[in-house]
Amino acid sequence: MQTDRKAQELWSHRSVFILALMGSSVGLGNIWKFPYLTSEQGGGTFVLLYLACVLLVGVPMMKAEVLLGRHTRSNPVQAMRLLSQEAGVSERWRILGWLAVLTGVLIFSFYAVVAAWIFYYVFSLSAGLLADAGWEQSNNFFSRMLADPDTLLTSHTLFMLVVLLILGAGVRRGLDRAIRYLMPLMLLLVLILLVYAYQSGYFWQAYQQLFQFRPERIDGAMVLAALGHAFFTLSLGTGAVMTYGAYLSRKESIGQTVACVGVLDTLLALLIGMVIFPVLLAAQMPSTSGPELLFISLPVAFGQLHAGQVLCVMFFLLVGVAAVTSAISLMEPFTALLEQQWGLRRVVAAVISVATAWCMSLAVLFSFGHLAGVTWYGMNLFELLNFVTTYFLLPLVSLAIMVFTGWILSRRITQSELTQSVPGYYLWRLCLRYLVPLAIGLIFVTNLYNVSF
Ligand code: TRP
Repeated sequence: MQTDRKAQELWSHRSVFILALMGSSVGLGNIWKFPYLTSEQGGGTFVLLYLACVLLVGVPMMKAEVLLGRHTRSNPVQAMRLLSQEAGVSERWRILGWLAVLTGVLIFSFYAVVAAWIFYYVFSLSAGLLADAGWEQSNNFFSRMLADPDTLLTSHTLFMLVVLLILGAGVRRGLDRAIRYLMPLMLLLVLILLVYAYQSGYFWQAYQQLFQFRPERIDGAMVLAALGHAFFTLSLGTGAVMTYGAYLSRKESIGQTVACVGVLDTLLALLIGMVIFPVLLAAQMPSTSGPELLFISLPVAFGQLHAGQVLCVMFFLLVGVAAVTSAISLMEPFTALLEQQWGLRRVVAAVISVATAWCMSLAVLFSFGHLAGVTWYGMNLFELLNFVTTYFLLPLVSLAIMVFTGWILSRRITQSELTQSVPGYYLWRLCLRYLVPLAIGLIFVTNLYNVSF
Protein backbone atom coordinates (compact mmCIF):
# COMPACT_ATOMS: atom_id res chain seq x y z
CA MET A 1 0.00 0.00 0.00
CA GLN A 2 1.30 3.45 -0.86
CA THR A 3 0.95 6.23 1.66
CA ASP A 4 1.93 9.83 1.13
CA ARG A 5 4.44 9.79 3.93
CA LYS A 6 8.18 9.74 3.46
CA ALA A 7 9.64 6.25 3.08
CA GLN A 8 9.47 4.35 6.33
CA GLU A 9 12.79 3.36 7.91
CA LEU A 10 13.19 -0.42 8.14
CA TRP A 11 15.08 -2.88 10.33
CA SER A 12 18.60 -3.40 9.02
CA HIS A 13 18.19 -7.18 8.91
CA ARG A 14 15.60 -9.86 9.55
CA SER A 15 17.60 -11.08 12.56
CA VAL A 16 17.26 -7.63 14.17
CA PHE A 17 13.49 -7.88 13.78
CA ILE A 18 13.54 -11.29 15.49
CA LEU A 19 15.73 -9.89 18.27
CA ALA A 20 13.47 -6.85 18.61
CA LEU A 21 10.39 -9.04 19.04
CA MET A 22 12.30 -11.23 21.46
CA GLY A 23 13.39 -8.15 23.37
CA SER A 24 9.81 -7.03 23.57
CA SER A 25 8.52 -10.39 24.71
CA VAL A 26 11.24 -11.34 27.18
CA GLY A 27 10.49 -9.07 30.09
CA LEU A 28 9.40 -9.13 33.68
CA GLY A 29 6.70 -11.65 32.82
CA ASN A 30 9.31 -14.25 31.87
CA ILE A 31 11.42 -13.58 34.89
CA TRP A 32 9.04 -13.41 37.78
CA LYS A 33 6.03 -15.26 36.52
CA PHE A 34 6.94 -18.05 34.16
CA PRO A 35 9.43 -20.04 36.29
CA TYR A 36 7.09 -19.85 39.24
CA LEU A 37 4.00 -20.78 37.22
CA THR A 38 5.88 -23.73 35.79
CA SER A 39 6.96 -25.18 39.09
CA GLU A 40 3.56 -24.48 40.66
CA GLN A 41 1.41 -25.74 37.84
CA GLY A 42 2.88 -29.10 37.00
CA GLY A 43 6.35 -28.75 35.52
CA GLY A 44 6.92 -30.27 32.11
CA THR A 45 3.21 -30.74 31.53
CA PHE A 46 2.67 -27.02 31.94
CA VAL A 47 5.60 -26.22 29.65
CA LEU A 48 4.13 -28.38 26.88
CA LEU A 49 0.68 -26.91 27.35
CA TYR A 50 2.13 -23.42 27.34
CA LEU A 51 4.10 -24.17 24.18
CA ALA A 52 0.90 -25.40 22.54
CA CYS A 53 -0.83 -22.15 23.54
CA VAL A 54 2.07 -20.14 22.14
CA LEU A 55 2.05 -22.02 18.84
CA LEU A 56 -1.71 -22.35 18.35
CA VAL A 57 -2.92 -19.04 19.76
CA GLY A 58 0.05 -16.72 20.30
CA VAL A 59 1.89 -17.25 17.02
CA PRO A 60 -1.20 -16.88 14.77
CA MET A 61 -2.05 -13.67 16.62
CA MET A 62 1.47 -12.40 16.28
CA LYS A 63 1.46 -13.17 12.57
CA ALA A 64 -1.76 -11.19 12.24
CA GLU A 65 -0.33 -8.15 14.02
CA VAL A 66 2.88 -8.23 11.99
CA LEU A 67 0.98 -8.49 8.71
CA LEU A 68 -1.30 -5.56 9.56
CA GLY A 69 1.73 -3.46 10.39
CA ARG A 70 3.76 -4.43 7.37
CA HIS A 71 0.88 -4.02 4.97
CA THR A 72 0.21 -0.46 6.08
CA ARG A 73 3.71 0.53 7.24
CA SER A 74 1.97 2.55 9.94
CA ASN A 75 1.32 2.97 13.63
CA PRO A 76 -1.80 1.19 14.97
CA VAL A 77 -4.17 4.15 14.56
CA GLN A 78 -3.32 4.88 10.94
CA ALA A 79 -3.01 1.17 10.22
CA MET A 80 -6.60 0.58 11.35
CA ARG A 81 -7.81 3.59 9.37
CA LEU A 82 -6.10 2.48 6.16
CA LEU A 83 -7.20 -1.11 6.58
CA SER A 84 -10.82 -0.21 7.25
CA GLN A 85 -10.81 1.94 4.08
CA GLU A 86 -9.40 -0.99 2.17
CA ALA A 87 -11.95 -3.38 3.63
CA GLY A 88 -14.76 -0.89 2.95
CA VAL A 89 -15.94 -0.69 6.56
CA SER A 90 -16.38 2.21 8.97
CA GLU A 91 -13.26 4.19 9.75
CA ARG A 92 -14.27 4.02 13.39
CA TRP A 93 -12.08 0.94 13.59
CA ARG A 94 -9.27 3.40 14.16
CA ILE A 95 -10.58 3.77 17.73
CA LEU A 96 -9.22 0.29 18.21
CA GLY A 97 -5.81 1.63 17.23
CA TRP A 98 -6.13 4.39 19.84
CA LEU A 99 -7.14 1.86 22.46
CA ALA A 100 -4.12 -0.29 21.63
CA VAL A 101 -1.75 2.69 21.90
CA LEU A 102 -3.35 3.77 25.18
CA THR A 103 -3.02 0.27 26.63
CA GLY A 104 0.70 0.31 25.81
CA VAL A 105 1.19 3.65 27.57
CA LEU A 106 -0.78 2.48 30.61
CA ILE A 107 1.26 -0.71 30.89
CA PHE A 108 4.43 1.32 30.44
CA SER A 109 3.53 3.63 33.32
CA PHE A 110 3.61 0.82 35.86
CA TYR A 111 6.28 -1.20 34.08
CA ALA A 112 8.59 1.82 34.45
CA VAL A 113 8.07 1.80 38.21
CA VAL A 114 9.24 -1.80 38.46
CA ALA A 115 12.14 -0.90 36.18
CA ALA A 116 13.03 1.91 38.60
CA TRP A 117 13.14 -0.64 41.45
CA ILE A 118 15.43 -2.79 39.34
CA PHE A 119 17.79 0.06 38.49
CA TYR A 120 17.83 1.00 42.18
CA TYR A 121 18.75 -2.57 43.07
CA VAL A 122 21.58 -2.65 40.52
CA PHE A 123 23.10 0.41 42.24
CA SER A 124 22.40 -0.76 45.78
CA LEU A 125 23.73 -4.24 45.19
CA SER A 126 26.83 -2.89 43.47
CA ALA A 127 27.43 -0.74 46.54
CA GLY A 128 27.16 -3.87 48.69
CA LEU A 129 24.08 -2.62 50.55
CA LEU A 130 22.55 -6.08 50.76
CA ALA A 131 25.74 -8.03 51.34
CA ASP A 132 25.09 -11.05 53.59
CA ALA A 133 21.56 -9.87 54.28
CA GLY A 134 19.10 -12.30 55.82
CA TRP A 135 15.47 -12.56 54.78
CA GLU A 136 14.30 -10.03 57.42
CA GLN A 137 16.86 -7.48 56.36
CA SER A 138 16.11 -7.95 52.69
CA ASN A 139 12.40 -7.65 53.33
CA ASN A 140 12.92 -4.42 55.28
CA PHE A 141 15.12 -3.02 52.54
CA PHE A 142 12.42 -3.62 49.93
CA SER A 143 9.59 -2.22 52.10
CA ARG A 144 11.63 0.85 52.94
CA MET A 145 12.32 1.48 49.26
CA LEU A 146 8.63 1.16 48.41
CA ALA A 147 7.51 3.48 51.16
CA ASP A 148 9.94 6.17 50.11
CA PRO A 149 9.50 6.85 46.39
CA ASP A 150 11.64 9.98 46.62
CA THR A 151 14.73 7.77 46.73
CA LEU A 152 13.57 6.11 43.54
CA LEU A 153 13.30 9.32 41.55
CA THR A 154 16.88 9.09 40.27
CA SER A 155 16.57 5.56 38.92
CA HIS A 156 13.09 6.30 37.57
CA THR A 157 14.43 9.34 35.71
CA LEU A 158 17.42 7.38 34.46
CA PHE A 159 15.16 4.68 33.05
CA MET A 160 13.01 7.29 31.29
CA LEU A 161 16.09 8.90 29.79
CA VAL A 162 17.36 5.58 28.46
CA VAL A 163 13.99 4.92 26.81
CA LEU A 164 13.89 8.48 25.46
CA LEU A 165 17.38 8.21 24.05
CA ILE A 166 16.54 5.01 22.15
CA LEU A 167 13.15 6.15 20.88
CA GLY A 168 14.34 9.65 20.00
CA ALA A 169 17.11 8.40 17.73
CA GLY A 170 14.60 6.73 15.40
CA VAL A 171 14.16 3.23 14.05
CA ARG A 172 17.58 2.67 12.49
CA ARG A 173 19.82 4.71 14.73
CA GLY A 174 17.83 4.13 17.90
CA LEU A 175 15.80 0.93 18.16
CA ASP A 176 17.81 -1.10 15.67
CA ARG A 177 21.15 -0.16 17.17
CA ALA A 178 20.04 -0.58 20.79
CA ILE A 179 18.63 -4.02 20.03
CA ARG A 180 21.86 -5.07 18.33
CA TYR A 181 23.82 -4.30 21.50
CA LEU A 182 21.34 -5.09 24.24
CA MET A 183 20.11 -8.49 23.07
CA PRO A 184 23.57 -10.09 22.78
CA LEU A 185 24.37 -8.59 26.20
CA MET A 186 21.22 -10.15 27.59
CA LEU A 187 22.06 -13.56 26.11
CA LEU A 188 25.62 -13.33 27.42
CA LEU A 189 24.37 -12.57 30.93
CA VAL A 190 21.95 -15.52 30.78
CA LEU A 191 24.80 -17.81 29.72
CA ILE A 192 27.16 -16.65 32.48
CA LEU A 193 24.41 -17.05 35.07
CA LEU A 194 23.54 -20.50 33.72
CA VAL A 195 27.12 -21.71 34.08
CA TYR A 196 27.09 -20.36 37.62
CA ALA A 197 23.78 -22.05 38.40
CA TYR A 198 25.14 -25.28 36.93
CA GLN A 199 28.09 -25.14 39.32
CA SER A 200 25.86 -24.61 42.31
CA GLY A 201 25.32 -28.36 42.50
CA TYR A 202 21.55 -28.09 42.43
CA PHE A 203 21.08 -27.86 38.70
CA TRP A 204 19.58 -31.29 38.17
CA GLN A 205 17.39 -31.07 41.21
CA ALA A 206 16.04 -27.77 39.88
CA TYR A 207 15.62 -29.35 36.46
CA GLN A 208 13.46 -32.06 37.95
CA GLN A 209 11.40 -29.60 39.93
CA LEU A 210 10.85 -27.52 36.83
CA PHE A 211 10.25 -30.21 34.24
CA GLN A 212 8.86 -33.24 36.01
CA PHE A 213 5.79 -34.49 34.17
CA ARG A 214 2.64 -34.37 36.25
CA PRO A 215 -0.10 -34.87 33.65
CA GLU A 216 -2.66 -35.64 36.34
CA ARG A 217 -2.55 -31.95 37.26
CA ILE A 218 -3.92 -30.69 33.95
CA ASP A 219 -7.15 -28.81 34.61
CA GLY A 220 -9.03 -25.74 33.47
CA ALA A 221 -7.08 -23.40 35.71
CA MET A 222 -3.81 -24.64 34.28
CA VAL A 223 -4.97 -24.15 30.70
CA LEU A 224 -6.10 -20.63 31.53
CA ALA A 225 -2.83 -19.82 33.27
CA ALA A 226 -0.89 -21.04 30.23
CA LEU A 227 -3.12 -19.12 27.85
CA GLY A 228 -3.08 -15.88 29.79
CA HIS A 229 0.64 -15.96 30.14
CA ALA A 230 1.27 -16.76 26.47
CA PHE A 231 -0.67 -13.66 25.72
CA PHE A 232 1.16 -11.25 27.99
CA THR A 233 4.60 -12.55 27.28
CA LEU A 234 4.29 -12.26 23.50
CA SER A 235 3.41 -8.57 23.92
CA LEU A 236 0.16 -8.88 22.03
CA GLY A 237 -2.70 -6.42 22.20
CA THR A 238 -0.93 -3.07 22.35
CA GLY A 239 0.02 -2.70 18.72
CA ALA A 240 3.69 -3.12 19.71
CA VAL A 241 4.12 -6.09 17.41
CA MET A 242 2.13 -4.29 14.70
CA THR A 243 4.42 -1.27 14.85
CA TYR A 244 7.55 -3.43 14.81
CA GLY A 245 6.05 -5.28 11.83
CA ALA A 246 5.71 -1.96 10.01
CA TYR A 247 9.50 -1.82 9.86
CA LEU A 248 9.96 -5.29 8.36
CA SER A 249 11.09 -5.63 4.78
CA ARG A 250 8.59 -7.17 2.35
CA LYS A 251 11.17 -9.72 1.30
CA GLU A 252 10.95 -11.60 4.59
CA SER A 253 8.61 -14.44 5.43
CA ILE A 254 6.41 -13.51 8.37
CA GLY A 255 5.49 -17.08 9.28
CA GLN A 256 8.97 -18.43 9.94
CA THR A 257 10.13 -15.30 11.69
CA VAL A 258 7.25 -15.24 14.12
CA ALA A 259 7.40 -18.96 14.92
CA CYS A 260 11.08 -18.42 15.74
CA VAL A 261 10.20 -15.71 18.23
CA GLY A 262 7.56 -17.86 19.96
CA VAL A 263 9.97 -20.73 20.49
CA LEU A 264 12.94 -18.55 21.49
CA ASP A 265 10.85 -16.62 24.01
CA THR A 266 9.81 -19.87 25.71
CA LEU A 267 13.37 -21.17 25.61
CA LEU A 268 14.71 -18.04 27.26
CA ALA A 269 12.04 -18.14 29.94
CA LEU A 270 13.04 -21.73 30.72
CA LEU A 271 16.73 -20.87 30.82
CA ILE A 272 16.03 -18.03 33.23
CA GLY A 273 14.08 -20.53 35.33
CA MET A 274 17.15 -22.75 35.31
CA VAL A 275 19.13 -19.87 36.78
CA ILE A 276 16.61 -18.94 39.48
CA PHE A 277 15.71 -22.39 40.82
CA PRO A 278 19.21 -23.81 41.39
CA VAL A 279 20.18 -20.62 43.22
CA LEU A 280 17.09 -20.75 45.45
CA LEU A 281 17.58 -24.46 46.11
CA ALA A 282 21.26 -24.06 46.92
CA ALA A 283 20.40 -21.41 49.49
CA GLN A 284 17.45 -23.49 50.82
CA MET A 285 15.03 -20.67 50.06
CA PRO A 286 11.38 -21.40 49.32
CA SER A 287 10.34 -20.45 45.78
CA THR A 288 8.04 -17.47 46.03
CA SER A 289 6.54 -15.46 43.21
CA GLY A 290 6.24 -11.90 41.98
CA PRO A 291 8.14 -9.01 43.52
CA GLU A 292 8.97 -11.08 46.57
CA LEU A 293 10.92 -13.63 44.53
CA LEU A 294 12.94 -11.05 42.68
CA PHE A 295 13.49 -8.36 45.26
CA ILE A 296 13.56 -10.25 48.57
CA SER A 297 14.43 -13.94 48.13
CA LEU A 298 16.93 -13.83 45.29
CA PRO A 299 19.34 -11.26 46.80
CA VAL A 300 19.43 -13.34 50.00
CA ALA A 301 19.94 -16.58 48.08
CA PHE A 302 22.72 -15.18 45.91
CA GLY A 303 24.34 -13.65 48.97
CA GLN A 304 24.76 -17.08 50.55
CA LEU A 305 26.62 -18.51 47.59
CA HIS A 306 30.21 -18.21 46.51
CA ALA A 307 30.75 -14.97 44.52
CA GLY A 308 27.01 -14.48 44.78
CA GLN A 309 27.15 -10.73 45.17
CA VAL A 310 28.70 -10.12 41.77
CA LEU A 311 26.37 -12.61 40.13
CA CYS A 312 23.39 -11.00 41.78
CA VAL A 313 24.33 -7.66 40.25
CA MET A 314 24.59 -9.43 36.89
CA PHE A 315 21.15 -10.95 37.39
CA PHE A 316 19.58 -7.56 38.09
CA LEU A 317 21.42 -6.10 35.13
CA LEU A 318 19.84 -8.83 33.02
CA VAL A 319 16.40 -7.95 34.35
CA GLY A 320 17.13 -4.26 33.70
CA VAL A 321 18.07 -4.92 30.07
CA ALA A 322 14.96 -7.08 29.63
CA ALA A 323 12.84 -4.26 31.05
CA VAL A 324 14.36 -1.67 28.70
CA THR A 325 13.86 -3.76 25.56
CA SER A 326 10.24 -4.43 26.54
CA ALA A 327 9.57 -0.82 27.51
CA ILE A 328 10.66 0.59 24.16
CA SER A 329 8.15 -1.68 22.45
CA LEU A 330 5.40 -0.38 24.72
CA MET A 331 6.16 3.24 23.79
CA GLU A 332 7.04 2.87 20.10
CA PRO A 333 3.40 2.81 18.88
CA PHE A 334 2.62 6.13 20.59
CA THR A 335 5.85 7.72 19.37
CA ALA A 336 5.26 6.53 15.79
CA LEU A 337 1.69 7.81 16.00
CA LEU A 338 2.81 11.31 17.04
CA GLU A 339 5.48 11.30 14.35
CA GLN A 340 3.30 10.08 11.51
CA GLN A 341 -0.07 11.57 12.32
CA TRP A 342 1.12 15.11 12.99
CA GLY A 343 4.32 15.06 10.96
CA LEU A 344 6.47 15.75 14.03
CA ARG A 345 10.19 15.23 14.02
CA ARG A 346 11.18 11.95 15.63
CA VAL A 347 12.95 13.58 18.57
CA VAL A 348 9.98 15.82 19.31
CA ALA A 349 7.56 12.90 19.08
CA ALA A 350 9.72 10.86 21.47
CA VAL A 351 9.99 13.74 23.96
CA ILE A 352 6.22 14.24 23.98
CA SER A 353 5.39 10.55 24.30
CA VAL A 354 7.95 9.83 27.02
CA ALA A 355 7.09 13.03 28.91
CA THR A 356 3.39 12.08 28.92
CA ALA A 357 4.16 8.58 30.15
CA TRP A 358 6.64 9.97 32.67
CA CYS A 359 3.96 12.11 34.34
CA MET A 360 1.57 9.17 34.54
CA SER A 361 4.31 6.94 35.80
CA LEU A 362 5.23 9.43 38.54
CA ALA A 363 1.68 9.15 39.86
CA VAL A 364 2.12 5.36 39.90
CA LEU A 365 5.49 5.70 41.64
CA PHE A 366 3.93 7.83 44.35
CA SER A 367 0.99 5.48 44.76
CA PHE A 368 3.30 3.63 47.16
CA GLY A 369 4.21 6.78 49.06
CA HIS A 370 2.43 10.12 49.24
CA LEU A 371 -0.59 8.82 47.31
CA ALA A 372 -0.88 5.50 49.13
CA GLY A 373 -4.22 6.57 50.55
CA VAL A 374 -5.81 6.92 47.09
CA THR A 375 -7.36 3.56 46.30
CA TRP A 376 -10.12 2.10 44.16
CA TYR A 377 -11.75 -1.09 45.35
CA GLY A 378 -8.78 -1.54 47.67
CA MET A 379 -6.20 -1.25 44.88
CA ASN A 380 -3.65 1.53 44.61
CA LEU A 381 -2.93 3.05 41.20
CA PHE A 382 -0.19 0.52 40.45
CA GLU A 383 -2.44 -2.45 41.16
CA LEU A 384 -5.38 -0.86 39.39
CA LEU A 385 -3.47 -0.26 36.16
CA ASN A 386 -1.99 -3.75 36.23
CA PHE A 387 -5.42 -5.21 36.81
CA VAL A 388 -7.31 -3.22 34.18
CA THR A 389 -4.73 -3.72 31.43
CA THR A 390 -3.93 -7.40 32.00
CA TYR A 391 -7.46 -8.55 32.61
CA PHE A 392 -9.53 -6.32 30.37
CA LEU A 393 -7.77 -4.04 27.90
CA LEU A 394 -5.29 -6.58 26.54
CA PRO A 395 -7.85 -9.34 25.86
CA LEU A 396 -10.38 -6.85 24.51
CA VAL A 397 -8.02 -5.14 22.07
CA SER A 398 -6.56 -8.46 20.94
CA LEU A 399 -9.99 -9.95 20.37
CA ALA A 400 -11.08 -6.98 18.27
CA ILE A 401 -7.88 -7.02 16.20
CA MET A 402 -8.26 -10.75 15.55
CA VAL A 403 -11.91 -10.48 14.57
CA PHE A 404 -10.98 -7.68 12.19
CA THR A 405 -8.16 -9.66 10.60
CA GLY A 406 -9.97 -12.99 10.47
CA TRP A 407 -13.47 -11.91 9.51
CA ILE A 408 -13.39 -8.43 7.99
CA LEU A 409 -10.13 -8.03 6.12
CA SER A 410 -10.19 -9.59 2.68
CA ARG A 411 -8.37 -12.82 2.08
CA ARG A 412 -6.44 -11.22 -0.75
CA ILE A 413 -4.60 -8.94 1.66
CA THR A 414 -3.76 -11.53 4.29
CA GLN A 415 -2.73 -14.06 1.69
CA SER A 416 -0.47 -11.62 -0.13
CA GLU A 417 1.35 -10.79 3.10
CA LEU A 418 1.61 -14.34 4.42
CA THR A 419 3.35 -15.95 1.51
CA GLN A 420 3.32 -19.43 2.91
CA SER A 421 2.07 -22.77 1.68
CA VAL A 422 -1.68 -23.05 1.05
CA PRO A 423 -2.37 -25.57 3.86
CA GLY A 424 -0.26 -23.41 6.19
CA TYR A 425 -2.30 -20.37 5.29
CA TYR A 426 -5.62 -22.13 5.88
CA LEU A 427 -4.43 -23.51 9.19
CA TRP A 428 -3.50 -19.99 10.27
CA ARG A 429 -6.86 -18.65 9.18
CA LEU A 430 -8.68 -21.42 10.97
CA CYS A 431 -6.80 -20.69 14.19
CA LEU A 432 -7.40 -16.98 13.82
CA ARG A 433 -11.11 -17.16 13.08
CA TYR A 434 -12.14 -19.76 15.63
CA LEU A 435 -9.49 -20.88 18.07
CA VAL A 436 -8.05 -17.46 18.96
CA PRO A 437 -11.38 -15.67 19.60
CA LEU A 438 -12.55 -18.66 21.60
CA ALA A 439 -9.39 -18.62 23.70
CA ILE A 440 -9.52 -14.88 24.32
CA GLY A 441 -13.26 -15.01 25.02
CA LEU A 442 -12.58 -17.71 27.59
CA ILE A 443 -9.97 -15.62 29.36
CA PHE A 444 -12.23 -12.59 29.30
CA VAL A 445 -15.31 -14.35 30.66
CA THR A 446 -13.29 -16.06 33.38
CA ASN A 447 -11.83 -12.72 34.42
CA LEU A 448 -15.29 -11.17 34.57
CA TYR A 449 -16.53 -14.09 36.60
CA ASN A 450 -13.59 -13.92 39.00
CA VAL A 451 -14.07 -10.19 39.48
CA SER A 452 -17.77 -10.39 40.20
CA PHE A 453 -17.37 -13.18 42.77
N1 TRP B 1 6.12 -9.15 27.21
C1 TRP B 1 6.68 -8.37 28.27
C2 TRP B 1 6.89 -9.26 29.50
O1 TRP B 1 6.80 -10.44 29.44
C3 TRP B 1 5.86 -7.18 28.62
C4 TRP B 1 5.36 -6.42 27.45
C5 TRP B 1 6.07 -5.71 26.57
C6 TRP B 1 4.02 -6.37 27.04
N2 TRP B 1 5.23 -5.20 25.61
C7 TRP B 1 3.99 -5.58 25.88
C8 TRP B 1 2.89 -6.91 27.55
C9 TRP B 1 2.80 -5.36 25.23
C10 TRP B 1 1.71 -6.70 26.91
C11 TRP B 1 1.66 -5.95 25.75
O2 TRP B 1 7.17 -8.76 30.55
